[in-house]
Amino acid sequence: MTHISPIFNVAQVRKDFPNLHILVHGRPLVYLDNAATTFKPQTVIDAIEKHYKTETANVHRGVHYLSEKATAEFEGARDKIKNFIHAKQSCEVIFTRGTTESINLVAHSYGRHFLKEGDEIIISEMEHHSNIVPWQMLCEEKGCKLKIIPFNDAGELLFDEFKKLLNSQTKLVSVVYVSNSLGTINPVKEIITEAHKLHVPVLIDAAQAVTYHSIDVQELDCDFLAFSGHKLFGPTGIGVLYGKASLLNTMPPYQGGGDMISKVTFEKTTYNVLPYKFEAGTPNVADAIGLGAAIDYLQTFGLDNTLQHKKELLDYGTQALQSIPGVKIIGTAQRKTSILSFTVDGIHAHDIGTLVDNEGVAIRTGHHCNQPVMQHFHIPATSRASLAFYNTKEEIDKLVKAVYKAKKVFE
Ligand code: ALA
Repeated sequence: MTHISPIFNVAQVRKDFPNLHILVHGRPLVYLDNAATTFKPQTVIDAIEKHYKTETANVHRGVHYLSEKATAEFEGARDKIKNFIHAKQSCEVIFTRGTTESINLVAHSYGRHFLKEGDEIIISEMEHHSNIVPWQMLCEEKGCKLKIIPFNDAGELLFDEFKKLLNSQTKLVSVVYVSNSLGTINPVKEIITEAHKLHVPVLIDAAQAVTYHSIDVQELDCDFLAFSGHKLFGPTGIGVLYGKASLLNTMPPYQGGGDMISKVTFEKTTYNVLPYKFEAGTPNVADAIGLGAAIDYLQTFGLDNTLQHKKELLDYGTQALQSIPGVKIIGTAQRKTSILSFTVDGIHAHDIGTLVDNEGVAIRTGHHCNQPVMQHFHIPATSRASLAFYNTKEEIDKLVKAVYKAKKVFE
């Protein structure tokens, strides 16, 4: 264990995550697939278990003890998220299934309502498919155009190219904060400032960023921000769309059903206030509470107090992987997170993934839902080690040893 600080102690936090301590193929697990999903601390597991064991009830629908308790816990989780991302009001926090649904919500509601033929949407070359396909679908339906900010071979967005793409036809910018395959941290504040000069709203895909460092939506001044609970040490199936109330209030509902209405008659239905207007049907109560517990957990040491440790892991991992003959790091931006994508000469990423798994090392291989990124580098796939605050240099050593062993198989 490397990093010891009075606030954040790796050895200590590792004890909080039961999944870190299992054996895989008879070996202690080395989990380096945190960009895909993160492990959950015991407190999150306990919060979900407690809800299902003794506190199960629907929310906003009953006057009985359990329903009021569940409602208080559910809305309490919303308040925790509001504070975590520094939103102005809790009603700007919409619960969704995850980042993908959050982006689809904006495309369906904002996009279908406000965009028309000839309008332009700007995304970047390094977007996850979930921040490409919903916009393509919208463009097909409405006759809009998708414009792409290119990146250089280090994996950095070309800001001047972005400025050239912005014009009076631009109606929305939707960009990723941290690339899930390259690790690049994008200059989203500058992108937002530039777009706002033309009064263009900006959506930030914060799926990877939210787990990396603290986010202040008011300071960023983003119009929408999307993230998932499961990448934030919380449960799967729960996520968030943050939106400025002034925008959300102008948007039509995304889905119809219970809880999103104010009054229903066969002649006309009126809609509920924020955030309920966008939360049709029984919400994912247990996992919202679980996400609230994850935020409570992170606040015991503070995400920003893990940055130094993650930087040390990134530097150590970059050097260690680069020292292996035939290994090339994909994504070498000046500002990047602890995500290490790499190729190995003459060996397909899937073979690397399978062989290192035999050693108990879990990495992701493939295109990482980033096919245009692979196309940029003319490669079919990468192997990707994505490191969380609970990872250690010793685990990186095991990855490096496993890659050497994999190479031997092919020699
Ligand atoms: N988007 C997730 C990843 O990068 C699933 O692996």
